[in-house]
Amino acid sequence: MKVTVVGAGAVGASCAEYIAMKNFASDVILLDIKEGFAEGKAMDLMQTASLNAFDTRITGTTGDYSKTAGSDIAVITSGIPRKPGMTREELIGINAGIVKDVSSNLIKHSPDVTIIVVSNPMDTMTYLVHKTTGLPKNKIIGMGGALDSARFKYRLAEALECPISDVDGMVIGGHSDTGMIPLTRLATRNSVLASEFLAEDRLNQVMEDTKVGGATLTKLLGTSAWYAPGAAVSGLVQAIACDQKKMFPCSALLEGEYDLDDICIGVPVILGKDGIEKIVPVDLSDAEKAKLQESAAAVKKTNGLLEL
Ligand code: NAI
Repeated sequence: MKVTVVGAGAVGASCAEYIAMKNFASDVILLDIKEGFAEGKAMDLMQTASLNAFDTRITGTTGDYSKTAGSDIAVITSGIPRKPGMTREELIGINAGIVKDVSSNLIKHSPDVTIIVVSNPMDTMTYLVHKTTGLPKNKIIGMGGALDSARFKYRLAEALECPISDVDGMVIGGHSDTGMIPLTRLATRNSVLASEFLAEDRLNQVMEDTKVGGATLTKLLGTSAWYAPGAAVSGLVQAIACDQKKMFPCSALLEGEYDLDDICIGVPVILGKDGIEKIVPVDLSDAEKAKLQESAAAVKKTNGLLEL
């Protein structure tokens, strides 16, 4: 199992580290354009191998795609992150060119690769990869909902004053401050609805805190987060690499599902060796359906800025 991670910055390196720590991949190739950067990160990470007991080989390269040849899975984290006060959508100008270039280089050397898109604005970047690579739709996956759901569970556990392992919940919709939809109605603590424990206004607060989860961290850190994004990506990579049939909300190309068409947006999917093996329908309330349509309209507006 060979995994390429393009972009050896904060998210890419964190992602490579979590993949190695889980010890399921033979090789991780880190690729960056900054001279020596990926090589340095790879060497540093390899020097944790004896300390952290993993056998995954991590190799860095400055822009040499021949080293990525035969990758089963590739993760695209290359591009600029947002600064405090910025929206993810504002990154499109620079990141679209990078993502287009990177995905075409990846496919030249690994025609059967499954691509996980992380660079923002993620739903639009995932759509761009669909439009420009010709890869089958099950092999292009956007990572956003897995991270947003982890942030949702963190906020739920905080409100419930319980361990995070007690709670379950999911975020669907666009990966943006206004577009994501934490499904508070369906959130549970050990199978009991969270609404049994929390008043409506507290649940609404959980929802709002989740939606600005990324912005809150960007304000604190001066750049966007990397530990939880890296961990979320590694979960997706492992589900595909190990054919786990695990369910995550991911940005997937919809063709009629959820009454949406020609858009990549976050919905629950089953991930296994074939990438997105199924898009899972959820019986949404009328209010949730309306929010999803609104979120999709915003994603489509951003997609309209792409030069396809
Ligand atoms: P970073 O600035 O730390 O790393 C980005 C790396 O990409 C840099 O090392 C840069 O040299 C490299 N790069 C730029 N152009 C490249 C090219 N053409 N080929 C190869 N490498 C190239 O940024 P960070 O924090 O790692 O974020 C990366 C992206 O991920 C951003 O767009 C950010 O908004 C996004 N992100 C998405 C999340 C999600 O949930 N989907 C979560 C967190 C970040």
